[in-house]
Amino acid sequence: MKLSLLPLFLFAAISSASPTAFTPQDKTLLVKESVATPHRWTRLGRAPSDHSIRLRIAILQHDFSGLEKALYEISDPDHHRYGGPYVQGGSREILAPNSTSLAFVDGWLAFVRLSRKRPRRSPAKDWVSVNAADIHGCRQMLGYRKPKCILHVPGDVLARTTSYQLPRYLHEHIELASPPQCSRDRREPRATKKNAIGITGFLNEYANIRDLAAFYRDQLPAAVNSTFEAVSVYGGINNQTSAAGEEANLDTQFAFGIAYPTPGIFWSTEGTRHTNEPYLDWLDYILNSHQIPQTISTSYGDDEQTVPFTYARRVCQRFASLAAGVSVLFASGDGGVGDGDSEPAQQCYTNDGKHTRRFIPGFPAVTAVGGTTNIPEISASFSGGGFSDYFARPAYQHKAVSAYLDKLPHKTYDGLFNRAGRGIPDVSAQSRRFQIVWQGERILIGGTSASTPAFAGLVALLNDARLAAGRPALGFLNPMLYKHGAHALNDIVVGSNPGCGTSGFNATQGWDPATGLGTPDFRKLLDVVV
Ligand SMILES: *[C@@H]1O[C@H](CO)[C@@H](O)[C@H](O)[C@H]1NC(C)=O
Ligand SMILES: *[C@@H]1O[C@H](CO)[C@@H](O)[C@H](O)[C@H]1NC(C)=O
Ligand SMILES: *[C@@H]1O[C@H](CO)[C@@H](O)[C@H](O)[C@H]1NC(C)=O
Ligand SMILES: *[C@@H]1O[C@H](CO)[C@@H](O)[C@H](O)[C@H]1NC(C)=O
Repeated sequence: MKLSLLPLFLFAAISSASPTAFTPQDKTLLVKESVATPHRWTRLGRAPSDHSIRLRIAILQHDFSGLEKALYEISDPDHHRYGGPYVQGGSREILAPNSTSLAFVDGWLAFVRLSRKRPRRSPAKDWVSVNAADIHGCRQMLGYRKPKCILHVPGDVLARTTSYQLPRYLHEHIELASPPQCSRDRREPRATKKNAIGITGFLNEYANIRDLAAFYRDQLPAAVNSTFEAVSVYGGINNQTSAAGEEANLDTQFAFGIAYPTPGIFWSTEGTRHTNEPYLDWLDYILNSHQIPQTISTSYGDDEQTVPFTYARRVCQRFASLAAGVSVLFASGDGGVGDGDSEPAQQCYTNDGKHTRRFIPGFPAVTAVGGTTNIPEISASFSGGGFSDYFARPAYQHKAVSAYLDKLPHKTYDGLFNRAGRGIPDVSAQSRRFQIVWQGERILIGGTSASTPAFAGLVALLNDARLAAGRPALGFLNPMLYKHGAHALNDIVVGSNPGCGTSGFNATQGWDPATGLGTPDFRKLLDVVV
């Protein structure tokens, strides 16, 4: 299940008018960002003037590096701050823009009235959303250039532009503008009053409680009377009388079933392809919540290249502030080294206008979960893996990933991937033939959409054991997994993840870009973490 994140830019800036206290005289407009028309989009022409959009403006955060440093410290088992308190509340200050940036942007916003509605601000003030900014207004007041209607096959027509401008003096204060739309007995209650697991739902996916009960009757009778908390984020649907989503049912049934009796939360976030950045809405919501589950699983993702870099970086920074204290798991995708299209060899080309042949890494990868199949386990052929073109390899991954690259025959896939990039996935789990209940019927389903909630269910149980032992939750898993995980994960050494007309990467001894470090051995992981 893919989440279509299609944030193109629609923006520009003032052309003339009286300066405010915060508006310097030099209003020279400069292109802030421009991107090529993304894969599967077509330019149709000018957008209708009465069409309205929701703009988001990201103001530069003044201390992201401080947050990043703190995140690594409290996630490193050898650091004295490991598992230490910090962040959610603290992140608000760290993410906040400095006062100069706020004053400039406020002055500018007061001046360019984009909408009759007041702009909405994120808690850290680092985002401004302008609801119902109409295209006519944008053209008149911001003089933005070349608004385009772009067709997203198979049929959505959305207003987007591929380039926007800002006055020169705002470039250093505004990071980007984007349109809306980048055997212990586990059943014995232990830390269930403190622990929780959360599942995200996007694209109008919601989970059905009767199906969950039917699933429990089949698989886990002790849980049959248990349920979960369904939370609607910005109007996300939770309709128990109409058909639920297969993805949402899969995610809740396996994550909550494995983690039982850990309380479960399911967030249904408003947003289809038409509102292309539900991650940011959900992140705003969750970062402003008082109680955040210690483990969160997401089975949605996108091709990295369809997400503009600045947007990807912003989403990544938000996830970093969430990951300080929370284990955040993402499916690595179901396209092998390609993008999962039916004609992969046709689709593995860059979006940058150069149309270069390239593997297509997935996004986002916080802790990325790939897929295996069979017993003994081998890599699933669809297991999403490879190397980010946007994000450099983090230090915690350096040793494991370099060891893999050193073994690759000379010049293998030269030019097809970024040897210096963040390697994907981190871990993997069984991913085929999951039996779930959907609309009252048993069906078989699979993909990294299945391995991810399953892995997350185990992480929730690890957190349960830690909390029961009076220790803090695991938080960001990667530093721990790369340091100690090798002893507690089953190394997968057979199989590969073909795509883009190649045979992909092989599962090998140690980390590999098909199955990561391997699949969980719960007992051994428990010994590592408690
Ligand atoms: C605020 O941030 C901007 C952009 O990075 C910088 O130019 C300015 O000097 C900073 N101001 C303060 C007071 O830190
Ligand atoms: C579930 O609830 C029903 C009705 O109250 C009860 O008869 C049954 O024993 C409960 N099952 C479990 C496993 O708690
Ligand atoms: C829920 O779905 C049913 C069946 O499709 C529909 O009749 C009903 O109006 C929906 N309820 C809401 C609140 O959307
Ligand atoms: C994968 O393994 C096969 C068989 O050993 C080998 O021929 C191939 O070169 C390997 N591919 C990569 C990318 O390492």
